[in-house]
Order: sequence, then C-alpha cells, then structure tokens
Amino acid sequence: MCGIVGYIGSKKASPILINGLLKLEYRGYDSAGLSTIENNSICVKKNKGRVNNLYDLEGINDLCGTVGIAHTRWATHGKPSKQNSHPHLDNSKTFSVVHNGIIENYHELREFLTKKGYHFLSETDTEVIPNLIHYYFNKNINDSNNFLKAVSLACSDLKGSFAIEVISYLFPNNMIVAKKDSPLVIGVGNNENYIASDIPAILSYSKSFYLLEDGDIALLSKNDVKFYNCSLEELKKEIKNIDWNASSAEKNGYEDYMLKEIHEQPTAIRETIGACLKDNEKVCFDDFNISFKDLSKINKIYIVACGTAMHAGLACKSTFETLCKIDTTVDIASEFRYRNPIINNNTFCIFVSQSGETADTLAALKLAKQHGAKTLAITNVIGSSISREADYNLYTHAGPEIAVASTKAYTSQIVLLTLVAICFAEILNSCSEDILNDLKKELLLIPRKVSSILKNIEPIKDFADSVYKEHDMFFLGRGFDYNVAQEASLKLKEISYIHSDSYAAGELKHGPIALIEKGVTVIGIITDPSLMLKSISNLEEVITRGAKTFIVTNQDIDNSDFNMIYKIPKTNILLSSILSIVPLQLFAYFISKAKGLDVDKPRNLAKSVTVE
Ligand code: G6P
Repeated sequence: MCGIVGYIGSKKASPILINGLLKLEYRGYDSAGLSTIENNSICVKKNKGRVNNLYDLEGINDLCGTVGIAHTRWATHGKPSKQNSHPHLDNSKTFSVVHNGIIENYHELREFLTKKGYHFLSETDTEVIPNLIHYYFNKNINDSNNFLKAVSLACSDLKGSFAIEVISYLFPNNMIVAKKDSPLVIGVGNNENYIASDIPAILSYSKSFYLLEDGDIALLSKNDVKFYNCSLEELKKEIKNIDWNASSAEKNGYEDYMLKEIHEQPTAIRETIGACLKDNEKVCFDDFNISFKDLSKINKIYIVACGTAMHAGLACKSTFETLCKIDTTVDIASEFRYRNPIINNNTFCIFVSQSGETADTLAALKLAKQHGAKTLAITNVIGSSISREADYNLYTHAGPEIAVASTKAYTSQIVLLTLVAICFAEILNSCSEDILNDLKKELLLIPRKVSSILKNIEPIKDFADSVYKEHDMFFLGRGFDYNVAQEASLKLKEISYIHSDSYAAGELKHGPIALIEKGVTVIGIITDPSLMLKSISNLEEVITRGAKTFIVTNQDIDNSDFNMIYKIPKTNILLSSILSIVPLQLFAYFISKAKGLDVDKPRNLAKSVTVE
C-alpha cells in the first residue's frame, strides 16, 4: 500500500514527481524516493521518512532528467529504512522499478534469482522485480522488443498484487507500467504523460486519463501510450475525462485536510443526493436500474466493507430491514471472504469503499460474483477497481478525501445507502408511502442541519481540551447510536492514539463497567427517544463510578450530572447517524490537535489499503 508517480516528457521530472508524491502520502509515508534517467545512467535518490525529506538530499536539485519514477512507501516487507526504500535497481543498475502491492511468491523468486547469481540489497519483495526483468532481458537480448518482453515475462512470474513503473537508461525515451490488483492511472498531457496511483495526485497536470485494468501493460513515450495484454497483444483503450477541480484536492485555507473534509460534509451530502432525489418523486439513479422481477427474488442483502465504510454499512442495516423487509447482514470484508457466507443468485451484495481499491473488499466482491450474487459497488473514486468489478455502480460525490481518517466519505456513504434502500422499497412496494416521503423530506434537510452543527464547534473544542491527556475513553449508545459510537471510537483511536472502545450501552453491565473509574471519559450518544431513558440510566451508572461524561443528543435532557451536553438537530431516526457523528469527528480532531499530532497522517495507517 504505497503511492507511485511517474513522468515522461520534456520538463524536469523530479519536481513533478515530488509534487505527486506529496499528494499520495496518505497511502504511506515510511520512506520516499525517485529515479530519473541522467546522461546514460539511472540516478536514484531515496530516504527513510516523509516525502519532504527528499528536498534535503544532496544533488536532488541537480537532477535534469525528463523521465522518472517515484514512490512513497508503507512498509510491508522489511522495516522502514533507506535500503528498503524504492526505487529498486537490478544488480547491473540497468532497470529501476517502483512497486505498490505485495509479491506473494517473492521468496521463491529470490531463491531462483540467487541460484542464477543475483544478489539482494534490501529486505523487500520488490527487489526481485528489476532483477527478474534483467534476467529476461538478457535471455531475449536479440529480440527487438526485449524491454517490453522482459517486463511482461517478469509480470507473469509475479503472484500477488502490483502496480509497477519501470525505466532503463538503455531506453531513455520510454517507460513501462503494469498493473494487477493495485491501482494505476495515466494522465495524458501535451507531449508528456503522467502516471500515478490515483487521479488527484496528477490532476493539476491533466484532466484526461487512461485507467489501467488488471493485466494491462503500457509502453509510454512522451507523445504516445501503447497498451498490451500479458501476451503482448496490443489493446485499445479509451481516454476518460475527469471534471474534478484540482483545488478541491487542496486544503483551501483549513489547517488540515481532515478539518476541511469535515466542513465539506454539507456539500458532499448535497452532491451525493444530487439528482437522485427530488420533492415528491421516486428515487431514481442515472446508471442503476434494477427491475421488480430481479429485486423480488432477493432474500438476503449483505453490506461488505472495511473500516469506516463498514461502519456506514452498520448505520444502514436497520434502514434496509425496515424499508425493504429483507434480512440484511453487514460484514467485515476480510472476514466475509474467508467464512464461506451463504451466497446464491437470490443474494444482493453491496460493497462500500471510499477508495474503491481496498484489497479485502475487492476480493469479497469477486467471491460474491463467483457464487452468483448481484453486486453493487458504492465508491467515491470514478473508475476504481471495485467500481469496475461490480454488476452495478453508484458513486458518492464527496470529492477527493485526503485525510487518512475518513469523515465526509462516511456520511456520504450513509446517504447513498439510504437512497438505495428507499429505491428498493419503492420498487418492492415494501413500505408505506408516508414513511418514505417523510424520510425523503428529511434527507433533503440534512445538509443544512450538518451546517448548523459546524457553526457550533467551540463547546466541542473546550471539552476536548479538558480531556486530551486521558488514556481511556468509552463511547456508548443503543440502536443507531451504538453504530455511531463504533465509528466515533475508531476516529478517536486513529488520530489521537488514545485507547477507546465502544459498547452497546446495555452491554456495559456485562463486563466493561469494570473498567470505569475516576477520570475515565465516557461519551454517550442519545438520539432515539424510545431508548433515551435506558441510555441515560446506563450513563448514570458510569457517573456513579467517577466517569466524566459528554453527551451528544437531539433530546431535551436536563441533567446536571453530565459534564457536557451537546445538542444536535432532530431528524428521522434512520438518518440520525449522519448528524450525531459530526461533533464526534470534531471531538477526535480537537484531541489530536491538542496533543500536537499529525491529524492527516496518523502513525501506522494508510488511506488506501491495497494489501491483505
Ligand atoms: C483504511 C482507512 C480507513 C478506511 C478503510 C477502508 O483503513 O484508513 O479510513 O475506512 O481503509 O477504506 P475504503 O477506501 O475501502 O473505504
């Protein structure tokens, strides 16, 4: 799970490469490096740590090469170190490679190459790739196409996932890229081509993109891109024009991407609702039509995802069950794919992923398809691997999400899942019109209600400032509020490094209450009037044991025992998660700031997890 960038054109490559890497740091920041072709040789500059450290490397400003590849690393094989940083060279320093993904059979390949006389300088799986290319290059030395052939033969030996870029000083006007199960895009410029792991990294240079499919190999020169399959038959590919605004991927005056993205939620939600929902009309998606005949066969819905996207699924399980009357299970993708779930052609599987690239979610999708399920992808990145694999496709329109901790993608995913549930209920006629109309009316009001929360952030900051030195926090809720507790706890853990846990408030007495003592902070979420009194009494129990309490509620709770009550607007209970998470995203944010941490790039995490 790393980020890669490439450039081939007439400009100096290194500044373009570093600029692209800075935008990809969310994919990992253990080390960074680049290679350019300089006067008949390959020059490599790399080091441990952040991309910005590249600016300090001796000679970095002297690089003049107009062809180059670059990498920001999230370590999998081998510790973060200069030696393990990419790019890697083959022993003869003829080929330089950057790689995102995991080579599962690298032990075998290393052994094979060692027997052939190759040696290895790093602990990485990647270093086998340039050496394998060199091995096949020498074997086919008389072939006119030997660079391309060597890369394709090397790729066919690789098991696992990869997006690679390869350059060689012997071919100073070319670059070869290939992909399988890791993302890669090519941005076309004017007599130049840009390569990256995602579109935002190179959006300021190009608006026209080729999206590579698994098994594709591309041979680039500055004014041409040729595509091949693994047998080196030439392929035709269409250019996709992307109308994202490059400035929407920048910070726009906010201190951090996370804060900016929290504030973008009203717009993200509005855009996600888009034209699917109009007053007094049925929900209608442009590109997603499912008939009554197909839908009425469905007796089981799975929502499968990882991390925050999985929490968005949890927030919508009851929505599907209430509106569509179909049994709905939410599953963690890495569990789903290995637990032999019951799937057949009466099963509908929804895969939710911000990036559209999460390896476990993609594998779970492939499994569901193999067993005959109908599949729908909900992603935020146009043309992502998950969106291309599924039978049906819907996009959240949250815009690029850069901060590792997901915020606007989560609320947009809940909105889109809710729209899908309404759409299914309308097709199936499984729910009364009054209920659906009320829900739709409320959904249209959500952006304004989120904005009103964002206008009242001072009390959240004050409470965060009073507890940021604590070591343990607990989030409690019942029903929909329990789902939000799970997401709020994850948010806090991710960016503040404070231990936190979430519990269904009724479970407290079955164990976790043993952990409550003076100084522990407990955050209670209370938005369901029918469960309010029960939740309040659970929270009273923790107060008795010395906990400090912070309550997020839309109810009129008049209880001076709570240290702080934060009021949010009322809404339909099926939408309450979208409002109650916002103050808790801010709570995690302010704690992280008070501790002086890097909010956008928390330690050990990455935005896009394209490995198992
Ligand atoms: C990583 C990110 C999380 C994200 C999860 C799933 O762990 O740090 O923020 O929720 O991956 O990512 P996806 O792109 O599939 O939503």
